[in-house]
Amino acid sequence: MEKELLKKPNFYQALVFLDTRRSLPARNMWSHIEGDMEFVVRRIQQLERKIVTIHTIVLNIGASDADSQLLTAIERLSIPRVLGVIHAAGVFEDHLIIDTTSASFGRVLSSKLAGTLALHRVFPPNALDFFILFSSIG
Ligand SMILES: NC(=O)c1ccc[n+]([C@@H]2O[C@H](COP(=O)([O-])OP(=O)(O)OC[C@H]3O[C@@H](n4cnc5c(N)ncnc54)[C@H](OP(=O)(O)O)[C@@H]3O)[C@@H](O)[C@H]2O)c1
Repeated sequence: MEKELLKKPNFYQALVFLDTRRSLPARNMWSHIEGDMEFVVRRIQQLERKIVTIHTIVLNIGASDADSQLLTAIERLSIPRVLGVIHAAGVFEDHLIIDTTSASFGRVLSSKLAGTLALHRVFPPNALDFFILFSSIG
């Protein structure tokens, strides 16, 4: 998907947000980074070589106040209008429905349902050019 977006000249100056619950290390640490955030940092560096500016917002999109947290974070960045959202947050807890627990079910649904509703409140109908949601069927 990133490759497709980057083929479009209008996206070359786009700002891309990664919503994650984990914070990224400071940029001056990126050349030495190892572990599970190394892949994320290397992808950001690849995209930035294509003249995309990337800001990260650390956020649990399933939190009850995720909409106000996101609005505050976007206002702080002082950027032009957000044109589109790709909501790809998801938690992988693969069980047959008969074997799952309500706690596990809640964790999986949280980013999908509460997260989508939070994004809907921040970006109401007609606010965006595109809004892409990733489902999860296990
Ligand atoms: N890969 C597949 O086969 C497959 C199949 C069907 C659907 N999907 C869906 O496609 C999407 C992308 O899949 P993927 O394999 O790229 O997933 P992935 O590598 O597990 O990435 C999901 C990301 O979501 C973030 N995340 C989870 N809960 C969050 C929350 N509450 N708030 C903010 N960020 C959150 C995680 O970051 P942190 O852990 O740092 O928070 C993680 O970086 C997911 O929505 C998934 O459900 C994938």
